[in-house]
Amino acid sequence: MVDNAATADELFARLTTVKVEFDEGIAWVTMNRPEKRNAMSPTLNREMLEVLEALEFDERCGVLVLTGAGDSFTAGMDLKEYFRETDNAPASVKLKIRRAAGEWQWRKLRLYPKPTIAMANGWCFGGGFSPLVACDLAIAADEATFGLSEINWGIIPAGTVTRAVAEVMNHRAALYYIMTGEPFGGQVARETGLVNESVPLARLRERTRELAKVLLGKNPTVIRQAKNAFKRIGVMDWDLAEDYLAAKAEQTAAQDPEGGRNKGMKQFLDEKSIRPGLDTYRRDS
Ligand code: COA
Repeated sequence: MVDNAATADELFARLTTVKVEFDEGIAWVTMNRPEKRNAMSPTLNREMLEVLEALEFDERCGVLVLTGAGDSFTAGMDLKEYFRETDNAPASVKLKIRRAAGEWQWRKLRLYPKPTIAMANGWCFGGGFSPLVACDLAIAADEATFGLSEINWGIIPAGTVTRAVAEVMNHRAALYYIMTGEPFGGQVARETGLVNESVPLARLRERTRELAKVLLGKNPTVIRQAKNAFKRIGVMDWDLAEDYLAAKAEQTAAQDPEGGRNKGMKQFLDEKSIRPGLDTYRRDS
């Protein structure tokens, strides 16, 4: 049997742009180029993909928190290493570099099998919106600064930034910030739908930890199916969504090793020890 944790630890030890720390079921994944405001370079993109792949199978990770070192979440795509230095590269090389970015920033992260929280601790610009939105939940610091800054240096928000923004931000706000490039803080990010909540920076880690602990208390099979079903049904009509969700519900029950559905019903209907409207069933009984 492969020791996933040992293999993962070897990987984590050789990372140069990402840091991984475990803390009671939470994997804190930190984009770690503070001197470059955690700008996403091809190296960081490659390393993030490796980290996400490793944590999928690492039992120490029940919830993944994505954040940034120092005073930044991420200043977006690396203008030097991702853009300028690849401008004259062959199309095939550009494609490979672009794919490596999308591979983790949304493709892997968006339907990640474990709950994910983006902890936006500081500067968050341009390309940073893709992983921010791809995470299931997001908490910002009031002091964080967000910006769709592409217009300020003459490009459109590409990659999947415009798609990500259209997914969560209200229409007027999205167009306003795409067209003006004006920076905004954590509270505006919350008001416009970009993040779930915004708290003072001094409370950010503690609040994120609290939320991660809530998620860790839920049935992991059910939470995985529930969040990914939500992300997939957006493109379905009602008829298709109803049929898909019925099939997913049956698959979830069949895959759930702890038989959550039966436990929940038993504790409510027979034992009268929980009220599911207000409490989660006890997983250990
Ligand atoms: N790509 C490449 N390098 C970046 C970067 C990016 N997106 N963001 C910051 N850096 C680098 C700077 O070039 C500088 O490098 P140097 O020390 O070798 O000169 C270093 O990070 C620090 O940046 P600086 O601008 O001095 O820091 P600051 O704290 O004064 O300002 C920001 C921080 C984030 C406001 C500013 O760096 C910035 O506007 N970055 C670009 C943000 C952006 O538009 N991103 C969208 C990309 S699509």
